[in-house]
Amino acid sequence: MATRTGTVSSLLLLLLSGSMSVWTISTLAVAAAEADDEAALLAFKAAAIGSSGHGDLLPSWNGSSSTSAGGFCGWEGVTCGARHRRRVVALRLPSHRLAGVLSPAIGNLSFLRVLDLSSNSFAGEIPSAIGRLRRLRSLNLSSNAFAGELPANLTSCAALEVMTLQTNQLRGHIPPELGNKLPRLEVIVLWQNNLTGAIPASLANLSSLRIFAVGFNQLQGTIPPFFEGTLGLQHLDLAYNRLSGELPQSLYNMSSLKSLQVQGNMFRGRIPADIGSKFPNLPILSFGVNQFTGSIPASLSNLTNLQVLDLSRNRLSGYVPRTLGRLQALRTLRLHNNRLEANNREGWEFITSLSNCSNLKVLEINGNTDFTGQLPSSIANLSTTLQILLLGKTGISGSIPSAISNLIGLQVLAVTDTFMSGVIPESIGKLENLGSLGLYNTNVSGLIPTSIGNLSNLIELYANNANLEGAIPTSLGKLKNLITLNLSLNRFNGSIPTEIFKQPQLSRYLDLSYNSLSGPLPSEVGSLQNVNQLFLSGNQLSGEIPHSIGECTVLQELWLDNNSFEGRIPQSLNKIKGLSTLNLSMNRLSGSVPDAIGSIQNLQQLNLAHNNLSGTIPTNLQKLTSLTELDLSFNNLEGEVPKEGIFRNLANLSIIGNNGLCGGIPQLHLAPCHMTSVKNNRKRRLVSLPIALTVMGALLFLVFVVILILFNYKKLKQKQKNQFQPPMLEEQYGRISYDALANGTNGFSEDNLLGKGSFGEVYKCDFQDNRTIVAVKVFNLKQSGSARSFVAECEALRSVRHRCLINIITCCSSIDHQGQEFKALIYEFMPNGSLNDWIHPKSGMPTKT
Ligand SMILES: *[C@@H]1O[C@H](CO)[C@@H](O)[C@H](O)[C@H]1NC(C)=O
Ligand SMILES: *[C@@H]1O[C@H](CO)[C@@H](O)[C@H](O)[C@H]1NC(C)=O
Ligand SMILES: *[C@@H]1O[C@H](CO)[C@@H](O)[C@H](O)[C@H]1NC(C)=O
Ligand SMILES: *[C@@H]1O[C@H](CO)[C@@H](O)[C@H](O)[C@H]1NC(C)=O
Ligand SMILES: *[C@@H]1O[C@H](CO)[C@@H](O)[C@H](O)[C@H]1NC(C)=O
Ligand SMILES: *[C@@H]1O[C@H](CO)[C@@H](O)[C@H](O)[C@H]1NC(C)=O
Ligand SMILES: *[C@@H]1O[C@H](CO)[C@@H](O)[C@H](O)[C@H]1NC(C)=O
Ligand SMILES: *[C@@H]1O[C@H](CO)[C@@H](O)[C@H](O)[C@H]1NC(C)=O
Ligand SMILES: *[C@@H]1O[C@H](CO)[C@@H](O)[C@H](O)[C@H]1NC(C)=O
Ligand SMILES: *[C@@H]1O[C@H](CO)[C@@H](O)[C@H](O)[C@H]1NC(C)=O
Ligand SMILES: *[C@@H]1O[C@H](CO)[C@@H](O)[C@H](O)[C@H]1NC(C)=O
Ligand SMILES: *[C@@H]1O[C@H](CO)[C@@H](O)[C@H](O)[C@H]1NC(C)=O
Repeated sequence: MATRTGTVSSLLLLLLSGSMSVWTISTLAVAAAEADDEAALLAFKAAAIGSSGHGDLLPSWNGSSSTSAGGFCGWEGVTCGARHRRRVVALRLPSHRLAGVLSPAIGNLSFLRVLDLSSNSFAGEIPSAIGRLRRLRSLNLSSNAFAGELPANLTSCAALEVMTLQTNQLRGHIPPELGNKLPRLEVIVLWQNNLTGAIPASLANLSSLRIFAVGFNQLQGTIPPFFEGTLGLQHLDLAYNRLSGELPQSLYNMSSLKSLQVQGNMFRGRIPADIGSKFPNLPILSFGVNQFTGSIPASLSNLTNLQVLDLSRNRLSGYVPRTLGRLQALRTLRLHNNRLEANNREGWEFITSLSNCSNLKVLEINGNTDFTGQLPSSIANLSTTLQILLLGKTGISGSIPSAISNLIGLQVLAVTDTFMSGVIPESIGKLENLGSLGLYNTNVSGLIPTSIGNLSNLIELYANNANLEGAIPTSLGKLKNLITLNLSLNRFNGSIPTEIFKQPQLSRYLDLSYNSLSGPLPSEVGSLQNVNQLFLSGNQLSGEIPHSIGECTVLQELWLDNNSFEGRIPQSLNKIKGLSTLNLSMNRLSGSVPDAIGSIQNLQQLNLAHNNLSGTIPTNLQKLTSLTELDLSFNNLEGEVPKEGIFRNLANLSIIGNNGLCGGIPQLHLAPCHMTSVKNNRKRRLVSLPIALTVMGALLFLVFVVILILFNYKKLKQKQKNQFQPPMLEEQYGRISYDALANGTNGFSEDNLLGKGSFGEVYKCDFQDNRTIVAVKVFNLKQSGSARSFVAECEALRSVRHRCLINIITCCSSIDHQGQEFKALIYEFMPNGSLNDWIHPKSGMPTKT
């Protein structure tokens, strides 16, 4: 301040005396500006430190140097000019953990040419004072938390060449006049912000523009024909916005392009047939996730520098050009989720041609249902560099060629949701880099080869809903990286090998449900110390549920329903603190419901229906605040029904089929419990009858009263039963005909049998016409109890969720071809897992193209 006052008075002095030389004036002015630079830097620091809590992040920036003006030139990150030796020309402080705000004082560093504050934690707005930096050439504020709009004053930085502001939280429009006010702009990088509005037409005037990257914003509208003046453009990234319309013809005049990324918008139209002559240098072409139609132009094979070609998730049709193999540099080819075709040798020839691409790493042709016929054996001739091969959700058939083992680099292999059949080749064990193997929803059959144990890098194996059979190989226990194993809905039999459980790394889930596994559940199950979900439903497992199950302390879901478990429910369950779903229904469990269950604080769904459980309902169940569904139906429970918590909510509570229950909330219409005690009293008094002959009259009266009460009690029970009679099923669910199910299951053929249980059978049902596959559970009505089970399940399953049998779709209650009553439940068929996530990545990853 003092210095500036000094300057002003010096100037006054000059005007008054008229004797001072011009040289002196400028010296004084320069000295004042230098002092301003230091003050501005200190103001910058004061605001930038914020409340970072990291101590002094810029210790070299201190006032002690101010004795010699310009000492700040030695401060960390500060560069002073060569000609203007005491003026700050560059401020570079990337990755300095700076927080707080960017001080408007930055606008006082009037000689600043480079400002790099990238990868810090600056928040707040970009100060409009930045517009005073007339010499600024490079502005890098990327990877901060800057919010608010781009300051309009930015357009005053007329010297600006490089503007990189990506990965912030900027919103609002890109200033429309940017292209006219900042004619020297070469680099505009704004991706990963929250910008809206249109791409300014004025960009057409930026004749030096090399990079324009605005991906991952919310820009709208069409691309303006802004490229006329910008023929030198090398990188255009418009990915993941809301842009629409056709790509402007002028775009195809940008022969200098090295990357063209427009994926994740709503662009439509055809890819020009002559695209192959337009971009001689282009390595990256990404048109994915749009609405492009027409066929893939054969001329693409002339873009010989292409490394990444992504046409996925469009509406492209026709054959894939069989000349694509000329793209020698190709690393990634994404054609998935289109309407592409291949139904004969010619159609599949592109696979053969791709064997020329010796750098191919990613080949994704999944999600094209018109890729039909045998998988060409030339697939095994693809480059050994191939890491990801996705063939799922296509119509391909045939078996997995044994020569697949040539693809030694494979990390992900998926043939899910196809008509693939035949056995898994023994040679698969040679794919030692394989991390993820997906075989679900196929017709792959036979045994799992023991060589599977050689896949030491396997992380996930999904082989659910196929035709696999025989014993589960013990060699699976050798896979020490496996975190997910799904073998459900096959025909595996025999006992569960203990080796499966000795895998502490198995942490996501183990699903062996709906097979024909028998024998006891080995106590080694307790070794699954990191598993989150365990599904063993729908087998013929017997014996007691081992106490060691309590060692699986991070279990969230435990499904042991539809087996033949007997004995008591282990107390140790209460050691599993995070358990949210416990389904032990449809077994032969006896004894009481352990109190311990009521101390599992996170329990949300508890299903113990259809067992032989006796005794009373533990009162602590009513204290479980997280419990949203409780099914204790069809047991021999007796005594008082609690009244609080879950027991207050009839919609999520099922206790029917227990004859000895009383009390509860009035809506349950159970007999009040004191009446039951009167009943007990009666017994006792009857015993004492011989001693009390003298009070015969009084006793007769009592018996009369008791009979009266019992009569009422029965009536009450009747009422309660009526209350629980579910409404006619037809009212609740759309109906499906017996014929449709018979057709879809090939007349309930053995081939489609997924599993058997005490209730009846589960079949895979394929509605050919709309390509839907469902699971049908047919009830064996001769078996006592299965009719009531049908009704109860229909009722209960509406909200129950399971990994494979997600939702009940509908029920079928009809008459079969022999005139017998026929009842079935139809479930949604839902293969799951992270492989799926991989195939359909959520948007948000800018590099995933
Ligand atoms: C920046 O410059 C203006 C005008 O010269 C002055 O008023 C202000 O105090 C300066 N700020 C700092 C922090 O130096
Ligand atoms: C200021 O910074 C210089 C250079 O890092 C250092 O030698 C000096 O001790 C600092 N002074 C104070 C008061 O922090
Ligand atoms: C901006 O900063 C980021 C992060 O430090 C860096 O990767 C990038 O190269 C910088 N850009 C320019 C143009 O300096
Ligand atoms: C922003 O620009 C306008 C016009 O150039 C100017 O009047 C105003 O002072 C600037 N604001 C700041 C904070 O520099
Ligand atoms: C982006 O803007 C939208 C709409 O204004 C808002 O809902 C969303 O939260 C914003 N996102 C971020 C990361 O700021
Ligand atoms: C490009 O600049 C010229 C001359 O300044 C101007 O007339 C024209 O409108 C500008 N074009 C666009 C699209 O802004
Ligand atoms: C593309 O370039 C050609 C030749 O330079 C020119 O004749 C044509 O008008 C341009 N097309 C567009 C749409 O800019
Ligand atoms: C590829 O380029 C060659 C040579 O320029 C040309 O003869 C051929 O027609 C082009 N192929 C396609 C399919 O456009
Ligand atoms: C593959 O390469 C061979 C030898 O370089 C060549 O003869 C053949 O035409 C190529 N195939 C394709 C489809 O480009
Ligand atoms: C695989 O490549 C070899 C050697 O180039 C060739 O002999 C064989 O016919 C090819 N197989 C298929 C199925 O294309
Ligand atoms: C599945 O395999 C069975 C024989 O194992 C066969 O009858 C059936 O047609 C196959 N289904 C499909 C869709 O390939
Ligand atoms: C699996 O590994 C064993 C032992 O290392 C080896 O003998 C066998 O050949 C391998 N099998 C396959 C199919 O790679």
